[in-house]
Amino acid sequence: MLKRTKAYEFLKSTNFSLRKPILKEVPVEPAFPFKEYPSATKIKLSLETISSTPNLFEILSKRRSNRDYKKYPISLKEISLLCYAVQGITGRAGPYLLRTAPSAGALYPIETYIAINFSSEISPGIYHLEIKDFSLALLQEGYLGDVLSKLALGQTFVATASVVFIWSAVLRRTISKYGNRGLRYIFMDVAHICQNLLLACEALGLKACPIGAFFDEEINVLLGLNEEENVIYIATVGK
Ligand SMILES: Cc1cc2nc3c(=O)[nH]c(=O)nc-3n(C[C@H](O)[C@H](O)[C@H](O)COP(=O)(O)O)c2cc1C
Repeated sequence: MLKRTKAYEFLKSTNFSLRKPILKEVPVEPAFPFKEYPSATKIKLSLETISSTPNLFEILSKRRSNRDYKKYPISLKEISLLCYAVQGITGRAGPYLLRTAPSAGALYPIETYIAINFSSEISPGIYHLEIKDFSLALLQEGYLGDVLSKLALGQTFVATASVVFIWSAVLRRTISKYGNRGLRYIFMDVAHICQNLLLACEALGLKACPIGAFFDEEINVLLGLNEEENVIYIATVGK
């Protein structure tokens, strides 16, 4: 029966083997590597770092998914550090802006959206992380925790989290180079990004939980995404 599932079919049909040539697939046009909202109101994130955090191995041993949040008002500095951990720019290689998390072919197919529920300095709303100028672009104002909780299959802790990270994939960026196999890489990319967030949270004394259960279509609509960009992962952060 497993062999009749789409998952099995996808994995097997995107396997490489020494026994088979790597076939050329239907060509897909590449996409622009950055998404930006130039006319949105922007909040500049802070590039200030912190001088001391627990030892990495202590962080690794303590990381646990946590869903018990008390509507903690997260600061701009904490949000900035989390955004840096997620997709901060750390280097350049030709035209590529290298980040804290690796990406297949340095194509960076993942976009980060942040729903701020409770913050001491930033108004509640949905923001887009603008990679190049390290800022948040305001997309939608107001507390959306209850809406997001409903769209995360009713998981109530989404409403009490301080911030909800929402990651989408711009398929064309990776699929144009790697074809169908690129879908595997897209999910690997987002997992690296999410793990950076989880470890950074632990380092800052915050708690986080990854979320894979959500109503994709409605979250895509909430963020105003076109059909080439899809939400693929979410994580809550709180205290
Ligand atoms: C891909 C993925 C999807 C997940 N989705 C959810 C989710 O929708 N809701 C939830 O409460 N936890 C979710 N989790 C968290 C897992 O339940 C958790 O990682 C697991 O129970 C192990 O516990 P730990 O993270 O505390 O070590 C998800 C974790 C992963 C990696």
